[in-house]
Amino acid sequence: MSDDLAAWRPTDTDLFTTYGDAFVPRRREQIATVTDLLADLPSPHVLDLCCGEGLLSEEYLSRTGVGRVTLLDGSSEMLDKAAARLARFAGRWDRVDADIHDREWRRGAYGGVMTSLAVHHLDGPGKRALYRDLRDVLVPGGVFVMADLIEPAGARARNLATVRWDRAVREAGGAAAFAAFSESEWNYFRLPGPDPVDTPSSVAENLAWLGGAGFTGVDVVWLQAGHAIFTATRP
Ligand SMILES: C[S@@+](CC[C@H](N)C(=O)[O-])C[C@H]1O[C@@H](n2cnc3c(N)ncnc32)[C@H](O)[C@@H]1O
Repeated sequence: MSDDLAAWRPTDTDLFTTYGDAFVPRRREQIATVTDLLADLPSPHVLDLCCGEGLLSEEYLSRTGVGRVTLLDGSSEMLDKAAARLARFAGRWDRVDADIHDREWRRGAYGGVMTSLAVHHLDGPGKRALYRDLRDVLVPGGVFVMADLIEPAGARARNLATVRWDRAVREAGGAAAFAAFSESEWNYFRLPGPDPVDTPSSVAENLAWLGGAGFTGVDVVWLQAGHAIFTATRP
């Protein structure tokens, strides 16, 4: 990650790897949902965009005996953690150290692209360009699945997302996780904004941009505490 784009800091990696199971609402359910949507792909090679510690890849590789993943992240520390996690799947993954904003990595012929909690670092035009490029790196019938923060469409929805996210963290991680969540101001929905680092878009915008990029079967299949899972298929 270049310094000027270093929105994600080493302290974020420390916090997220310590408390991720609490900070991500219903994390296991999200991982299962993403990988459910990646069954029966036209090619078993999947890109894990901003893979972090590789939890999505671990689930995907566990489920499919023939699956392969390309791990992409801008943090070499995260990639090292993912590599350690996936050691038992040697020969079925490779790693790419790249910034999501860049376009050099946007090539290939994947059967699927999965991503969790990263695309919101791109602004609106950045997301639109990403969706067009991802359509082109998927083979026909290939599937894009994105779990991410969404921008609530109004004050009532924002209040609900704020409260529900707090509650989810408290329930999943207890007092220590909630203290870390609060002190680090991790709850995006509580911040006054606009935030230069986290720029989620609304459900409606994401759906329109995915459709505009030429995907079909564009849908939201899961939404909880301001976190949504989208799916889209390359015709
Ligand atoms: C919240 S974590 C999510 C990790 C993983 N996808 C998961 O759900 O557990 C965000 C990840 O995105 C990566 N990241 C943040 N900004 C990035 C950027 N500009 N380019 C590439 N990776 C980035 C971080 O290193 C981190 O691994």
